[in-house]
This record gives sequence, C-alpha cells and structure tokens, in this order.
Amino acid sequence: MSTPTKILLEESDIPTHWYNIVADMPNPPTPPLGPDGQPVSPEALSAIFPNAILEQEMSGERWIAIPDEVREAYRIWRPSPLHRAHRLERMLGTPAKIYYKNEAISPAGSHKPNTAVPQAFYNRQAGIMRLSTETGAGQWGSSLAFAGQMFGIAVRVYMVKVSYQQKPSRRSTMQTWGAEVFASPSEMTKAGRDMLAVDPNNLGSLGLAISEAVEEAAGRADTNYALGSVLNHVLLHQTVIGLEAKKQFAKIGAYPDMIFAPCGGGSNFGGIGFPFLADKAAGDAKAKNLRVVAVEPISCPTLTRGVYAYDYGDASGYTPIMKMYTLGHDFMPPGIHAGGLRYHGASPLVSQLFHEKLIEAVAVPQLATFEAGLMFARAEGIIPAPESCHGIRACIDEALRCKQSGEPKTLLFNLSGHGHFDMAAYDRYFAGGLEDFAYPSEAVTASLKHLPKVG
Ligand SMILES: Cc1ncc(COP(=O)(O)O)c(C=O)c1O
Repeated sequence: MSTPTKILLEESDIPTHWYNIVADMPNPPTPPLGPDGQPVSPEALSAIFPNAILEQEMSGERWIAIPDEVREAYRIWRPSPLHRAHRLERMLGTPAKIYYKNEAISPAGSHKPNTAVPQAFYNRQAGIMRLSTETGAGQWGSSLAFAGQMFGIAVRVYMVKVSYQQKPSRRSTMQTWGAEVFASPSEMTKAGRDMLAVDPNNLGSLGLAISEAVEEAAGRADTNYALGSVLNHVLLHQTVIGLEAKKQFAKIGAYPDMIFAPCGGGSNFGGIGFPFLADKAAGDAKAKNLRVVAVEPISCPTLTRGVYAYDYGDASGYTPIMKMYTLGHDFMPPGIHAGGLRYHGASPLVSQLFHEKLIEAVAVPQLATFEAGLMFARAEGIIPAPESCHGIRACIDEALRCKQSGEPKTLLFNLSGHGHFDMAAYDRYFAGGLEDFAYPSEAVTASLKHLPKVG
C-alpha cells in the first residue's frame, strides 16, 4: 500500500525533551555582547526574562526536559500531522515524494504557540503576571495572547502599524484571548514617540516594535518581555516540530533528502531542521546527504545578501548585540505580505550554521511564492500563510528539478501556518496588485553603515 496521506502520532508521543543543537555544533555559539563589548551576564537580562529561560538561552545540554504543564497544554494541538502531499505530487507530475509538517493546526494557526506556551509557563512560575511583546504579521502576538490565557498572564502587544491596518482580524483574535494591542510606532514609549516625531506616518517595522516592547518590560518590575523568534531558547522550544517529524518518518520507514522552511528570525526553520541535523552530527548514515534549506524573500534577503556581523536585535539599539547575518538594524524592508519574514537579522544559531556551511539558504520573489501557495491550496486544500508559501516555493522548485532528472527524492517542508487572516494579500494577488520588490541594495548599504563597532 502507498504511504498514508496523514502520518499521525499519539499524545503520548509528544516529545518529553527539547533538542539543543548547541551540544552538537562544531564551534561554540558566539555570545551576545553588552554596551561594554563584553558578553552579557544573565543578571543583565533578568530585568526582562525569567531565570529558567535565561538558563535555556545559555545552555549547552543536548536535551532539556519539557515541563508536564507545557506538555499538557501542547496536547490541545500536538502532535501535529505529517502529510504526504500525494495530490501536489500528481499536479506537478514529479517522481519526488513530498511531505509537509502541518503546524497550521495550532489554536493561533502557526508554529508560534510551541514557544509561547513554555515562555508563558516559565514567567508565571517566576511570579510574573504581565508580558509585553511585538508582532509583525500577528501570528506571534496571537500565540502569546493564547498562551497568556493558559497560565493566567496579561499580555500587551505592539503590532507593526502596517499589519495593524491590513489585518484587523488578527487584532481581534488577540483581543479575544484577552490581550491589549497597540499599533507601533505608538505614543506609549520613547522609541515610538521618537520615531513619530521624525516621521508621523511611519508604518513601523519588527525591529521598532521590539524596541517598544523591550522598553516597556525594562521599565516595569511587574512586566517581562517575550520574543517569538531569533533567540536560542525560542528555537529550542520549536524542536518539537522536527522531533515529531522524525518519529513520523520512522513510522513509515522513510527519511527526507531535503528539508525546506521559511526563514524570518529562524524559529520554524530551526524547529524542523535541527533535530534532523542531530542525526547528521551523530554520523547517522541515513542523514549523510541530508540538505536543510532556509527560504527567505528576495526583498529581505538576510542570509543570502546580508553580512555576518554583530548587530542589534531591534531598531533602536536597546538589545544586546548578537553575531548574525544582518541587513542592518535600521533597514526598513519593503511592505511585502509575508510580514513574518520582514526582519533585518536571523537567529545567531541559524547564522552560525549557515556561515559554517552546515545549512543552505535561497531567496525567492514574492509573486512566485503566491503562485506556489495557490498550487498547494488547490492540490492539498489548505491555504498557506504567505510566509509558508516561501518554503513551498522552494520545495516545488526542487520537485520540478526532480521531474527533469527523474530522481525520486524525499522532500519535506514545514507548513508553518495557515493564511486565513491573510486573504487581503491573496486578494491583492488576484487583482494583479502585488509586485516583486527588487533586492533593496541602496537601503541595505545605507543601513549597514550603522552596524555597531565591536572591539
Ligand atoms: C506562519 C509563519 N511562518 C514563518 C514565520 C517566520 O518566523 P520564524 O522564522 O521565526 O519561523 C512567521 C513569523 O511570524 C509566521 O507567522
């Protein structure tokens, strides 16, 4: 019999531990640096993060136990199904076998609750009753609002203004889960007011919204900050995706040759890819030729066109500096519809692995991602988030190469979220109103001039 369409696991198969790739990296990760150019101490960050999270951020342990309370909340939607995309394969006429891990089935509709839930849990455990955060597309803000409800924590979200205007339903989703939502730049913080003084019509960026949320958390003893991507602990939490996928492939006696995932800050990419890279690090023969590919927009090409340097995580320079691929912290990406991929940097772990050539990256244009999203939706029925369409595009391109070469490769992509709140973007695509922004070389060059000086 052919492979089933859905490969399912039991609740008892939800991983008991997260996988920490730091234990298997050829070189130790570069530390974040403070204003004095020295590695930041955990104490310096304890104003905005609980100790349990800081320990995970700095940990070199390979396996970190998932608390029972978190596994209990994960049960609402995990384990997520692994699908075999039989219909997409037929539509493409490819000999490749295409699989996707469906993270769209979480309450918020993406992979983001995988880390929102533990972050809310550890903050509540530390006695924190309030969290501030930023959101671009609205996926992260919704996820933290939901997770806040799981553990009785109030959540305030600074939402990038362009998304606040484009996505009223995301705002009401967050409000349904009890969060307060403000358009960023806002009048609530110095970072927001400074930007509005210069440019009253500024549509915001993820970097600026991070500045607002961090400023609020740093200035209030009762409030901590939660980040939806980039940092080590976030990628750690997301490894439930890849750990489950490995069990699902084992169940059908298969293993991917290539893995694709969209890459904004890098969390769903790390989540699906790192557990497979563990097999490679362990010298497992089946992973010998495995290729793991991060997919980003041509208009915000952090890994493929950025520089590997120390930079701030936010636009205003409030965060420690981290060594990562960056387009410059004050780079304002064009208003593409994959809001979650409009970030100037990439996770330091993903950046280091890319720098050391252990993973690959490609950049794809906006229109081609929507084309791929439509093919997927029409074949498989699920409408993907614009971010997810990037991974789908690269996977379809590989499946078409297989059609040319006749290779029956096994391909896996992460369906990081559904697009039900992104129909305005699909409408623009149908109306012919979406454009392919070119690589914004002048804006990047200007922004890279402002990289912080190190050493
Ligand atoms: C559905 C979806 N996919 C991917 C991303 C990109 O983020 P990351 O690179 O952290 O996975 C986002 C971010 O908001 C998202 O909402």
